[in-house]
Formats: sequence, C-alpha cells, structure tokens
Amino acid sequence: MIEKERVPNHVGVIMDGNGRWAKARMLPRVAGHNAGMESMKKIVIAASNMGIKNLTVYAFSTENWKRSTEEVNGIFKLIVKYVKSELEELIENNVHINIIGEYDMLPQDSVEAIDKLVASTKGDDGLNFNIALNYGGRAEIVKSVNALFEAKKQEEVNGIFEPVTEADISRYLYTGSANFDIPDPDLIIRTSGEERMSNFLVWQAAYSELMFTDTLWPDFTPEEFEEMVERFTHRDRRFGGRNKEDK
Ligand code: FPP
Repeated sequence: MIEKERVPNHVGVIMDGNGRWAKARMLPRVAGHNAGMESMKKIVIAASNMGIKNLTVYAFSTENWKRSTEEVNGIFKLIVKYVKSELEELIENNVHINIIGEYDMLPQDSVEAIDKLVASTKGDDGLNFNIALNYGGRAEIVKSVNALFEAKKQEEVNGIFEPVTEADISRYLYTGSANFDIPDPDLIIRTSGEERMSNFLVWQAAYSELMFTDTLWPDFTPEEFEEMVERFTHRDRRFGGRNKEDK
C-alpha cells in the first residue's frame, strides 16, 4: 500500500479499448462499454481506498457523437444503469460526483439520473469523482474565454481592463474555481496502447505525468492502477525547472 501522503492528488483516466475488447469476443461494442463500466466501478473504489482526492474519467467526448446511434444510446443507458446500481455504494464511500462537460445535451433520462447522482453525493468529502461527459478540452477553453470576456466587460472602464492571465483562463474552466475548483491532474493514464490525449483536459494537463498501458480498459485492474500510481511516486517532476542537485 502506498502511503497516503505520496499518492497523486488528481489522477485522470482515458478509458480506452472497450470496443476492441468486445470485438475480440465477437460481442457488440455496447457489451465492451458495459464491461468498461464494471472496470470503472472498481477503479473508483480503489482510488478512494488509496486516499486519492480527485479522479477524473473521460466517459464521453464531444467527438463520440460520430459513433452509431446504437452505440451512443448504449453508453447513455449505461449511465442510468450506473446511477441505479451504484448510488448507495458511492454514498457509503463518501464519494462526491462532479460532471464536467455539456451533459445537458444527453437524453432526458440520463440527465435526470446524473442530476440525482450529483445532488445525492453533494457535500460528501471523500474522493471527488469527476465524470467528463460530452466533454472536449478545446471547447472548454473557448467556453472559459467567453465567460471571461463577459466578466471583463463588467470590469471595463473607458475601454480599459486588466490583461488576461493564465489564472483567469483557469478560473472559468469546468475545473476552475468559478465552477468545481478541481486541481490540475498530476497523472494521466490511458489504456489500450494508444498514446495521445484526444482533447482530454488540454489546458490542465500542461505538467501532468503521462502513463500508457496496452491493457484494454475492461481488463484494467485495481492492481495495475496501484502499480502505475506507485511508479508515479518515483517520477521526478520539475515543472520546467531543474533538480536541486543539477549543476
Ligand atoms: C473508449 O473505448 C470508451 C468510451 C468511448 C466510453 C467509455 C464509457 C464507459 C466506460 C462507461 C461509462 C459509464 C458511466 C456511468 C460514466 P472505445 O470504444 O473507443 O474502444 P476502442 O478504441 O477499442 O474502439
């Protein structure tokens, strides 16, 4: 077990490989997402037990609408199923849910299930489990800039206002202090052998450590998760600076 002081404060996960997992078993893609949801449930509890404060998963991107209606609706149905089956356990484990992304564009029953999930876990001070739904990193930055523009208009006197800073843009992201106040991720994990960010936490990941595994998401276990977190604790994070020992 890794000491709680050494675990990353925020882990992001790109849960990839559900489709290939299903294909290998000659199952429909939705069966892969169902297995992926089972995997996600185990990782949430593992993260909570490890003392990780923030976990963000990429569940549905703005680009995922390009998939077949059957697959997209299958993912949305899973959300409703997840809320029905997991709400009690999440509350028992003190897990607090935040949604990042434009989830109100999902079907009505999914939106209602999500609202229930968020409302019922509000105030829980355990793991912040952030679910990215209808999320796109670039769209998030654009949204932030527009919110900032509105704020600057209020501040403007005779056409003059303070120049925009990095902190200003951060503040109006979904994760920013104007919304959920989630810190930048320390570690981002992507499964299934793909090594790219796919529009996930584009701004926030500037200094994140990245880790990739060939394991397909439905096969990803709490043991592999813990092993990756353990490896993270040995990484030398310099944030663009240098080690004290360096000459
Ligand atoms: C990527 O695998 C996975 C997704 C697009 C969906 C992930 C969704 C879940 C795990 C369920 C989430 C449930 C809740 C309640 C939030 P892929 O389909 O791109 O896999 P492939 O690259 O092998 O085709």
